[in-house]
Amino acid sequence: MSLLNKIKDNKWLEEEDLLAILSSNDKGLEKALQENAKATCEKYYGKNIYIRGLIEYSNICRKNCYYCGIQSENTNIKRYRLSQNELYNTIEKAYELGFRTFVLQGGEDPKLTDDYFVNTILKTKENFPETRITLSIGERTKKSLKRMKEAGADRFLLRFETSSAKHFEKLHPENDSLEKRLAMLQDLRDLDFIVGTGFMIGSPGQTLQDLAQDLLLVQRIQPEMIGVGPFIPHKNTRFKNFKEGELGLSLKILSLLRLMNPKALIPSTTALNTINQKGRILGILHGANVLMPNVSPNIAKENYNLYDSKKSTGLESGEFLESLDKELKTIGRQIIVDVGDPLVRSSNEIYRR
Ligand code: 5AD
Repeated sequence: MSLLNKIKDNKWLEEEDLLAILSSNDKGLEKALQENAKATCEKYYGKNIYIRGLIEYSNICRKNCYYCGIQSENTNIKRYRLSQNELYNTIEKAYELGFRTFVLQGGEDPKLTDDYFVNTILKTKENFPETRITLSIGERTKKSLKRMKEAGADRFLLRFETSSAKHFEKLHPENDSLEKRLAMLQDLRDLDFIVGTGFMIGSPGQTLQDLAQDLLLVQRIQPEMIGVGPFIPHKNTRFKNFKEGELGLSLKILSLLRLMNPKALIPSTTALNTINQKGRILGILHGANVLMPNVSPNIAKENYNLYDSKKSTGLESGEFLESLDKELKTIGRQIIVDVGDPLVRSSNEIYRR
Protein backbone atom coordinates (compact mmCIF):
# COMPACT_ATOMS: atom_id res chain seq x y z
CA MET A 1 0.00 0.00 0.00
CA SER A 2 1.34 3.44 -0.88
CA LEU A 3 2.16 5.93 1.81
CA LEU A 4 -0.49 8.27 0.47
CA ASN A 5 -3.17 5.61 0.79
CA LYS A 6 -1.97 4.67 4.26
CA ILE A 7 -2.49 8.26 5.31
CA LYS A 8 -5.84 8.61 3.58
CA ASP A 9 -7.16 5.33 5.00
CA ASN A 10 -5.87 5.96 8.53
CA LYS A 11 -3.65 2.90 8.50
CA TRP A 12 -1.24 2.22 11.33
CA LEU A 13 2.05 4.03 10.66
CA GLU A 14 5.27 2.13 11.34
CA GLU A 15 8.61 3.75 12.06
CA GLU A 16 9.68 3.46 8.42
CA ASP A 17 6.45 5.14 7.28
CA LEU A 18 6.99 7.98 9.72
CA LEU A 19 10.56 8.45 8.56
CA ALA A 20 9.43 8.45 4.91
CA ILE A 21 6.74 11.03 5.66
CA LEU A 22 9.13 13.25 7.63
CA SER A 23 11.71 13.09 4.81
CA SER A 24 9.28 13.63 1.95
CA ASN A 25 8.71 16.87 0.00
CA ASP A 26 5.68 15.46 -1.75
CA LYS A 27 3.00 18.17 -1.69
CA GLY A 28 0.18 15.72 -2.33
CA LEU A 29 1.23 13.69 0.64
CA GLU A 30 1.48 16.78 2.84
CA LYS A 31 -1.99 17.86 1.78
CA ALA A 32 -3.51 14.46 2.52
CA LEU A 33 -1.82 14.44 5.90
CA GLN A 34 -3.13 17.87 6.78
CA GLU A 35 -6.65 17.23 5.58
CA ASN A 36 -6.93 13.94 7.39
CA ALA A 37 -5.52 15.43 10.61
CA LYS A 38 -7.95 18.33 10.49
CA ALA A 39 -10.89 16.02 9.74
CA THR A 40 -9.88 13.66 12.56
CA CYS A 41 -9.72 16.57 14.98
CA GLU A 42 -13.15 17.83 13.91
CA LYS A 43 -14.60 14.34 14.14
CA TYR A 44 -13.89 14.24 17.87
CA TYR A 45 -13.88 17.89 18.88
CA GLY A 46 -16.14 19.57 16.32
CA LYS A 47 -15.58 23.29 15.94
CA ASN A 48 -14.40 23.86 19.46
CA ILE A 49 -10.96 25.12 20.38
CA TYR A 50 -10.08 24.96 24.06
CA ILE A 51 -8.18 27.80 25.69
CA ARG A 52 -5.83 27.60 28.67
CA GLY A 53 -4.53 30.60 30.56
CA LEU A 54 -0.74 30.28 30.75
CA ILE A 55 0.83 31.87 33.83
CA GLU A 56 4.61 32.04 34.02
CA TYR A 57 5.13 32.25 37.77
CA SER A 58 8.96 32.41 37.91
CA ASN A 59 11.97 32.37 35.60
CA ILE A 60 14.34 31.33 38.36
CA CYS A 61 15.59 27.82 37.63
CA ARG A 62 18.03 25.44 39.25
CA LYS A 63 18.35 23.45 36.03
CA ASN A 64 20.70 24.24 33.19
CA CYS A 65 19.04 22.77 30.11
CA TYR A 66 21.39 23.87 27.35
CA TYR A 67 18.67 25.04 24.95
CA CYS A 68 16.69 27.07 27.42
CA GLY A 69 17.01 30.82 27.95
CA ILE A 70 16.22 30.69 31.66
CA GLN A 71 18.95 28.13 32.38
CA SER A 72 20.75 28.79 35.68
CA GLU A 73 23.99 29.80 33.94
CA ASN A 74 22.38 32.67 32.08
CA THR A 75 23.43 35.69 34.13
CA ASN A 76 22.17 38.13 31.52
CA ILE A 77 18.51 38.10 32.38
CA LYS A 78 16.36 39.75 34.97
CA ARG A 79 14.99 37.08 37.27
CA TYR A 80 11.53 37.40 38.80
CA ARG A 81 9.11 35.38 40.87
CA LEU A 82 5.40 36.09 41.35
CA SER A 83 4.30 36.18 44.96
CA GLN A 84 1.44 33.92 45.98
CA ASN A 85 -0.83 36.94 45.86
CA GLU A 86 0.32 37.99 42.41
CA LEU A 87 -0.16 34.45 41.18
CA TYR A 88 -3.64 34.15 42.63
CA ASN A 89 -4.67 37.58 41.30
CA THR A 90 -3.55 36.49 37.85
CA ILE A 91 -5.71 33.38 38.09
CA GLU A 92 -8.68 35.50 39.16
CA LYS A 93 -8.17 37.84 36.23
CA ALA A 94 -7.88 34.92 33.82
CA TYR A 95 -11.13 33.47 35.18
CA GLU A 96 -12.91 36.76 34.53
CA LEU A 97 -11.66 36.73 30.96
CA GLY A 98 -13.24 33.29 30.42
CA PHE A 99 -10.41 30.87 31.15
CA ARG A 100 -11.41 27.68 32.98
CA THR A 101 -8.00 26.02 32.91
CA PHE A 102 -4.95 27.67 34.40
CA VAL A 103 -1.51 26.43 33.46
CA LEU A 104 1.15 27.30 36.02
CA GLN A 105 4.46 27.15 34.21
CA GLY A 106 7.90 28.16 35.35
CA GLY A 107 11.44 27.32 36.30
CA GLU A 108 12.47 24.93 39.04
CA ASP A 109 12.74 27.80 41.48
CA PRO A 110 14.37 26.48 44.68
CA LYS A 111 12.47 29.01 46.80
CA LEU A 112 9.12 27.72 45.64
CA THR A 113 8.20 24.97 48.05
CA ASP A 114 5.21 22.70 47.72
CA ASP A 115 3.23 25.15 49.85
CA TYR A 116 3.41 27.89 47.22
CA PHE A 117 1.61 25.63 44.76
CA VAL A 118 -0.59 23.80 47.28
CA ASN A 119 -1.93 27.08 48.73
CA THR A 120 -2.62 28.45 45.27
CA ILE A 121 -4.36 25.25 44.18
CA LEU A 122 -6.50 25.12 47.33
CA LYS A 123 -7.57 28.75 47.06
CA THR A 124 -8.32 28.49 43.36
CA LYS A 125 -10.39 25.35 43.76
CA GLU A 126 -12.25 26.82 46.71
CA ASN A 127 -13.22 29.98 44.86
CA PHE A 128 -13.57 28.51 41.38
CA PRO A 129 -14.49 24.83 41.79
CA GLU A 130 -15.41 24.40 38.13
CA THR A 131 -11.90 24.94 36.85
CA ARG A 132 -8.81 22.85 36.16
CA ILE A 133 -5.23 23.43 37.20
CA THR A 134 -2.35 22.25 35.07
CA LEU A 135 1.15 22.25 36.50
CA SER A 136 4.21 22.68 34.31
CA ILE A 137 6.75 23.12 37.07
CA GLY A 138 9.54 20.75 36.15
CA GLU A 139 10.77 17.66 37.94
CA ARG A 140 9.47 17.01 41.46
CA THR A 141 9.44 14.07 43.83
CA LYS A 142 6.49 11.72 43.93
CA LYS A 143 5.74 12.92 47.45
CA SER A 144 5.56 16.51 46.31
CA LEU A 145 3.39 15.56 43.32
CA LYS A 146 1.07 13.66 45.62
CA ARG A 147 0.56 16.74 47.79
CA MET A 148 -0.34 18.80 44.74
CA LYS A 149 -2.76 16.19 43.48
CA GLU A 150 -4.42 15.96 46.85
CA ALA A 151 -4.75 19.74 46.95
CA GLY A 152 -6.68 19.54 43.69
CA ALA A 153 -4.21 19.84 40.82
CA ASP A 154 -5.64 18.05 37.80
CA ARG A 155 -3.03 17.88 35.09
CA PHE A 156 0.72 17.97 34.63
CA LEU A 157 2.91 18.80 31.65
CA LEU A 158 6.40 17.33 31.41
CA ARG A 159 7.99 17.04 28.01
CA PHE A 160 10.56 14.31 27.48
CA GLU A 161 12.15 16.64 24.86
CA THR A 162 13.71 13.77 22.87
CA SER A 163 13.23 10.00 22.90
CA SER A 164 16.92 9.30 22.35
CA ALA A 165 18.83 8.95 25.62
CA LYS A 166 22.00 9.97 23.83
CA HIS A 167 20.45 13.04 22.30
CA PHE A 168 18.92 13.91 25.68
CA GLU A 169 22.46 13.99 27.08
CA LYS A 170 23.52 16.45 24.40
CA LEU A 171 20.75 18.80 25.46
CA HIS A 172 21.08 18.52 29.24
CA PRO A 173 23.72 18.47 31.99
CA GLU A 174 24.78 15.09 33.28
CA ASN A 175 22.51 14.98 36.29
CA ASP A 176 19.47 14.94 34.06
CA SER A 177 18.31 11.94 32.12
CA LEU A 178 15.55 10.72 29.87
CA GLU A 179 15.06 7.85 32.27
CA LYS A 180 14.23 10.25 35.11
CA ARG A 181 11.72 12.10 32.96
CA LEU A 182 10.00 8.87 31.98
CA ALA A 183 9.98 7.70 35.59
CA MET A 184 8.28 10.91 36.61
CA LEU A 185 5.70 10.52 33.85
CA GLN A 186 4.96 7.12 35.40
CA ASP A 187 4.65 8.77 38.85
CA LEU A 188 2.14 11.19 37.38
CA ARG A 189 0.13 8.30 35.96
CA ASP A 190 0.26 6.43 39.27
CA LEU A 191 -1.07 9.53 41.02
CA ASP A 192 -3.90 9.81 38.51
CA PHE A 193 -2.84 13.09 36.95
CA ILE A 194 -3.98 13.87 33.44
CA VAL A 195 -0.63 13.69 31.70
CA GLY A 196 0.92 15.84 29.03
CA THR A 197 4.25 15.30 27.35
CA GLY A 198 6.04 16.10 24.12
CA PHE A 199 9.28 17.13 22.50
CA MET A 200 11.09 19.88 20.63
CA ILE A 201 11.32 19.81 16.85
CA GLY A 202 14.68 20.53 15.23
CA SER A 203 16.72 20.79 18.42
CA PRO A 204 20.52 20.69 17.94
CA GLY A 205 21.75 17.25 16.89
CA GLN A 206 18.30 15.79 16.34
CA THR A 207 17.75 13.53 13.34
CA LEU A 208 14.55 12.71 11.49
CA GLN A 209 14.88 9.22 12.86
CA ASP A 210 14.91 10.64 16.39
CA LEU A 211 11.71 12.47 15.52
CA ALA A 212 10.08 9.31 14.16
CA GLN A 213 10.92 7.66 17.46
CA ASP A 214 9.65 10.67 19.41
CA LEU A 215 6.30 10.14 17.71
CA LEU A 216 6.34 6.46 18.64
CA LEU A 217 7.26 7.20 22.25
CA VAL A 218 4.32 9.59 22.53
CA GLN A 219 2.08 6.88 21.15
CA ARG A 220 3.39 4.44 23.77
CA ILE A 221 2.96 6.85 26.67
CA GLN A 222 -0.59 7.66 25.55
CA PRO A 223 -0.64 11.10 27.10
CA GLU A 224 -3.96 12.92 27.23
CA MET A 225 -2.13 16.10 26.17
CA ILE A 226 0.73 16.47 23.68
CA GLY A 227 2.86 19.59 23.40
CA VAL A 228 5.46 20.04 20.69
CA GLY A 229 7.08 23.07 19.12
CA PRO A 230 10.09 24.06 17.05
CA PHE A 231 13.39 24.61 18.81
CA ILE A 232 14.31 28.30 18.71
CA PRO A 233 17.82 29.44 19.66
CA HIS A 234 18.39 31.78 22.58
CA LYS A 235 21.26 34.25 22.34
CA ASN A 236 22.72 33.51 25.76
CA THR A 237 22.98 29.76 25.29
CA ARG A 238 25.56 27.45 23.73
CA PHE A 239 23.05 26.74 20.98
CA LYS A 240 22.76 30.38 19.93
CA ASN A 241 24.06 29.73 16.41
CA PHE A 242 21.86 26.75 15.68
CA LYS A 243 18.93 26.98 13.27
CA GLU A 244 15.37 27.05 14.49
CA GLY A 245 13.06 24.10 13.81
CA GLU A 246 11.29 24.30 10.46
CA LEU A 247 7.67 25.31 10.06
CA GLY A 248 6.82 22.62 7.51
CA LEU A 249 8.34 19.87 9.62
CA SER A 250 6.59 21.15 12.75
CA LEU A 251 3.21 21.16 10.99
CA LYS A 252 3.76 17.66 9.60
CA ILE A 253 4.51 16.44 13.09
CA LEU A 254 1.36 18.06 14.49
CA SER A 255 -0.67 16.24 11.84
CA LEU A 256 1.03 12.93 12.55
CA LEU A 257 0.42 13.37 16.26
CA ARG A 258 -3.27 13.94 15.59
CA LEU A 259 -3.54 10.86 13.36
CA MET A 260 -1.64 8.68 15.81
CA ASN A 261 -3.46 10.05 18.89
CA PRO A 262 -6.88 11.03 17.55
CA LYS A 263 -8.46 12.07 20.84
CA ALA A 264 -5.49 13.89 22.39
CA LEU A 265 -5.52 17.51 23.44
CA ILE A 266 -2.88 19.13 21.24
CA PRO A 267 -1.99 22.81 21.54
CA SER A 268 -0.82 25.05 18.77
CA THR A 269 2.14 26.37 20.75
CA THR A 270 3.77 29.76 21.28
CA ALA A 271 6.99 28.51 19.70
CA LEU A 272 5.10 27.74 16.48
CA ASN A 273 3.58 31.20 16.53
CA THR A 274 7.03 32.68 17.11
CA ILE A 275 8.64 31.18 14.00
CA ASN A 276 5.71 32.16 11.79
CA GLN A 277 3.15 34.99 11.99
CA LYS A 278 0.36 32.60 11.13
CA GLY A 279 1.77 29.75 13.21
CA ARG A 280 -1.12 29.62 15.63
CA ILE A 281 -3.78 29.23 12.94
CA LEU A 282 -1.61 26.89 10.87
CA GLY A 283 -1.26 24.67 13.92
CA ILE A 284 -5.05 24.45 14.23
CA LEU A 285 -5.36 23.72 10.51
CA HIS A 286 -2.90 20.84 10.94
CA GLY A 287 -4.67 19.09 13.79
CA ALA A 288 -4.20 21.10 17.00
CA ASN A 289 -7.26 21.91 19.12
CA VAL A 290 -5.93 23.91 22.07
CA LEU A 291 -4.53 27.42 22.46
CA MET A 292 -2.63 28.63 25.49
CA PRO A 293 -2.64 32.43 25.57
CA ASN A 294 -0.19 34.00 27.96
CA VAL A 295 -2.10 35.69 30.79
CA SER A 296 0.99 36.43 32.88
CA PRO A 297 1.65 39.90 34.32
CA ASN A 298 4.04 42.07 32.30
CA ILE A 299 7.08 41.32 34.46
CA ALA A 300 6.75 37.72 33.33
CA LYS A 301 5.94 38.46 29.71
CA GLU A 302 9.09 40.55 29.50
CA ASN A 303 11.43 38.12 31.20
CA TYR A 304 10.18 34.57 30.68
CA ASN A 305 12.28 34.11 27.58
CA LEU A 306 12.90 30.44 26.91
CA TYR A 307 14.06 31.44 23.43
CA ASP A 308 14.61 34.64 21.42
CA SER A 309 11.72 36.80 20.17
CA LYS A 310 9.17 34.78 22.13
CA LYS A 311 5.75 36.06 21.18
CA SER A 312 3.25 37.21 23.72
CA THR A 313 0.04 38.96 22.88
CA GLY A 314 -1.56 41.67 24.94
CA LEU A 315 -4.25 40.16 27.07
CA GLU A 316 -5.14 43.05 29.31
CA SER A 317 -8.76 42.86 28.21
CA GLY A 318 -11.23 40.43 26.76
CA GLU A 319 -10.59 41.98 23.35
CA PHE A 320 -7.77 39.64 22.57
CA LEU A 321 -10.00 36.60 23.03
CA GLU A 322 -12.67 38.20 20.88
CA SER A 323 -10.22 38.78 18.07
CA LEU A 324 -8.85 35.26 18.48
CA ASP A 325 -12.38 33.89 18.22
CA LYS A 326 -12.96 35.95 15.08
CA GLU A 327 -9.76 34.65 13.54
CA LEU A 328 -10.78 31.08 14.36
CA LYS A 329 -14.22 31.60 12.83
CA THR A 330 -12.58 32.35 9.48
CA ILE A 331 -11.47 28.69 9.49
CA GLY A 332 -14.76 27.36 10.88
CA ARG A 333 -13.63 27.05 14.49
CA GLN A 334 -14.51 28.85 17.72
CA ILE A 335 -13.29 29.38 21.24
CA ILE A 336 -15.30 27.60 23.91
CA VAL A 337 -15.50 28.60 27.56
CA ASP A 338 -15.00 25.17 29.10
CA VAL A 339 -12.56 23.24 31.27
CA GLY A 340 -11.80 21.12 28.20
CA ASP A 341 -11.22 17.75 29.84
CA PRO A 342 -9.79 14.92 27.76
CA LEU A 343 -12.33 12.75 25.95
CA VAL A 344 -10.79 9.59 27.38
CA ARG A 345 -8.40 8.76 30.18
CA SER A 346 -5.49 6.49 29.42
CA SER A 347 -5.12 3.47 31.61
CA ASN A 348 -1.99 3.09 33.71
CA GLU A 349 -1.45 -0.34 32.28
CA ILE A 350 -1.02 0.91 28.75
CA TYR A 351 1.89 3.03 29.84
CA ARG A 352 3.53 0.19 31.74
CA ARG A 353 3.76 -2.07 28.70
N1 5AD B 1 13.16 26.52 21.89
C1 5AD B 1 11.95 25.92 21.86
N2 5AD B 1 11.36 25.39 22.94
C2 5AD B 1 12.02 25.50 24.11
N3 5AD B 1 11.70 25.06 25.33
C3 5AD B 1 12.67 25.42 26.18
N4 5AD B 1 13.64 26.06 25.52
C4 5AD B 1 13.26 26.12 24.23
C5 5AD B 1 13.84 26.65 23.05
N5 5AD B 1 15.02 27.26 23.05
C6 5AD B 1 10.51 24.26 25.59
C7 5AD B 1 10.89 22.90 26.20
C8 5AD B 1 10.19 22.94 27.54
C9 5AD B 1 9.08 23.93 27.33
C10 5AD B 1 8.55 24.55 28.57
O1 5AD B 1 9.68 24.90 26.52
O2 5AD B 1 10.37 21.86 25.39
O3 5AD B 1 9.71 21.68 27.95
